[in-house]
Amino acid sequence: MKILVTGGTGFIGSHTVVELVKAGFEPVLMDNFDNSQASVLNGLETILGFRPSFYEADCNDAAAFAEIFQKESNIGGVIHFAAHKAVGESVQLPMKYYRNNIGSLLSLLETAKAAGISNLVFSSSCTVYGEPSQLPVDESFPILPAQSPYGNTKQICEEILRDAVASGMDFRVLSLRYFNPIGAHPSAEIGELPIGVPGNLVPFVVQTAAGWRTQLSVFGDDYNTADGTCIRDYIHVVDIAKAHVKAIQYLNSKAEKSLYDWVNLGTGKGSSVLEVVNAFEKVSGQKLNFKIAERRSGDVEKIYASTEKAERVLGWKTELSLEDALADAWRWQQKLGPKLV
Ligand code: WQD
Repeated sequence: MKILVTGGTGFIGSHTVVELVKAGFEPVLMDNFDNSQASVLNGLETILGFRPSFYEADCNDAAAFAEIFQKESNIGGVIHFAAHKAVGESVQLPMKYYRNNIGSLLSLLETAKAAGISNLVFSSSCTVYGEPSQLPVDESFPILPAQSPYGNTKQICEEILRDAVASGMDFRVLSLRYFNPIGAHPSAEIGELPIGVPGNLVPFVVQTAAGWRTQLSVFGDDYNTADGTCIRDYIHVVDIAKAHVKAIQYLNSKAEKSLYDWVNLGTGKGSSVLEVVNAFEKVSGQKLNFKIAERRSGDVEKIYASTEKAERVLGWKTELSLEDALADAWRWQQKLGPKLV
């Protein structure tokens, strides 16, 4: 069965392409290389042994979707990854985020309906929970006002999907709320390559160890946690990718024509920033140059997922550890070689 993967050359998208093929699906990739490189297709070819079907196109372009749905007959589902995702940039350029992240979903929904597509997996985020009142955070927790335009686009997209299904559209939709995806494919053929200075912790850690950055700033050590640094639920991107395969299989297995549900994708285990630094030093054998810096505005103190619903609904749970993810991220970083920019 063909599955359209928007953002197919992106970080989570590319890893999901690999797992889809392993599970017997035929991914069709769509990306405009806004935040990824054409070389990802080479990495995928090396892993898969063939070059996956690819369309260079913008998801805001409804005509592009319509053309793909027409050319690739029998697409059985869509996994919609494509979106802008830099939290800080979204504060500076909110309209860019609203236009792109919401516009692309609308283009997809309008054209997918006409093409008779009935299964859709959407990339959502744990940011919808804000600072939760209790931990672990489960799917019944309320959605809190978003801390950034980026986070708000994820909330609005979830609402759009809920409303589309409630209106009677024949769509089975699952929103997957990611916690902190990190790592790389164990082959080191694909991984995370943020453009410019990374905003996220693990890319910054591995780039510092590789000499691309001089020093990691740990944002705040006066939080109400054991070592004073923030706690997150870091999850290996390959585990996240496998959950998308389970999500498509789950939607395919359903008899009802319309369905909307949402599931957390996390490990259930929280790690502090200093625990990540220590684990990285252990798996890489590198001493990391870091300093304690001011808190970063907008950071929640601690969050980690309840994994019960994902296990119950999808029959999925994580298999890989924080150490696995950091070792794979480091292997990928080393393969990138000297700094390119
Ligand atoms: C993790 C921790 C930082 C960089 C994630 C996603 C993001 C979004 C929301 C996804 C925090 C600390 C970081 C650094 C540091 N949505 N840190 N020094 O903020 O949890 O955001 O969820 O859908 O895209 O990544 O992730 O990796 O930025 O930060 O000390 O240089 O690391 O303060 O405690 P975050 P992150």
